[in-house]
Amino acid sequence: MRLILLGAPGAGKGTQAEMLMKYYKIPTISTGNIFREHISNKTDLGKQATKYMDAGQLVPDELVIELVKDRITRDDCKNGMIFDGFPRTIPQAEALDKMLNDLGISIDYVIDVDVPDENIIERMSGRRVCSKCGASYHTKHKKEKLEGNCDECASTLMQRVDDKEETVKNRLQVYHMQTKPLIEYYNKQNKVLYIDGTADVIKVHDSIMKLLGEN
Ligand code: AP5
Repeated sequence: MRLILLGAPGAGKGTQAEMLMKYYKIPTISTGNIFREHISNKTDLGKQATKYMDAGQLVPDELVIELVKDRITRDDCKNGMIFDGFPRTIPQAEALDKMLNDLGISIDYVIDVDVPDENIIERMSGRRVCSKCGASYHTKHKKEKLEGNCDECASTLMQRVDDKEETVKNRLQVYHMQTKPLIEYYNKQNKVLYIDGTADVIKVHDSIMKLLGEN
């Protein structure tokens, strides 16, 4: 199975990707998580990416595309993959189509997780992420078992720098201008599944599974 999760920042793409990854036993490719890893390892790529991310802007296409090109040819992607936060622009989507085509494969479905802007700010202010593995929690909607610690790896939870209200507003603007047009792009390929992302986490997951024909 090869899936793309589309949706505004905070729509729940990462949360749903984690659940789909466990079900299908295929990796999630989250360009945001890869960049955050580079930032914490203080690599050159991390240094370039951080100024865009902290401002709520997109990292330039050429940097993102190179990163994904390298990632999808690894062994663990043989049985499929879930893209979370990639592609985010038309040039990225075109580059992905070409990369996959060169490998003789293609995307099966694009899941559009729809959440109105007004819900996003509340979600972002309550989000906590694991400082080590990137797993995502929420102070109200998805609490960790032991306060302040990741359920998966027991590392400390933290708030993301780009979850400040002003930055979230910039990210939403960028989403509407540069990423939303991808729905039309993939509609032309007849691949879009629409999901109401305002329901609770389990209900959203169940709706996705149903549309994928899994229950
Ligand atoms: P990235 O890390 O991809 O962030 P994003 O797309 O803005 O999405 P988020 O991770 O913020 O949200 P999400 O939809 O995954 O929601 P989550 O499941 O965590 O990108 C960060 C930055 O990196 C970008 O701004 C850009 O600078 C750069 N970047 C990354 N990829 C790039 C690319 N391809 N090109 C260029 N630049 C790129 O959920 C959010 C919160 O809500 C959580 O607390 C969660 O527990 C809670 N929640 C989830 N689902 C529900 C629900 N159904 N009900 C209630 N609460 C819920």
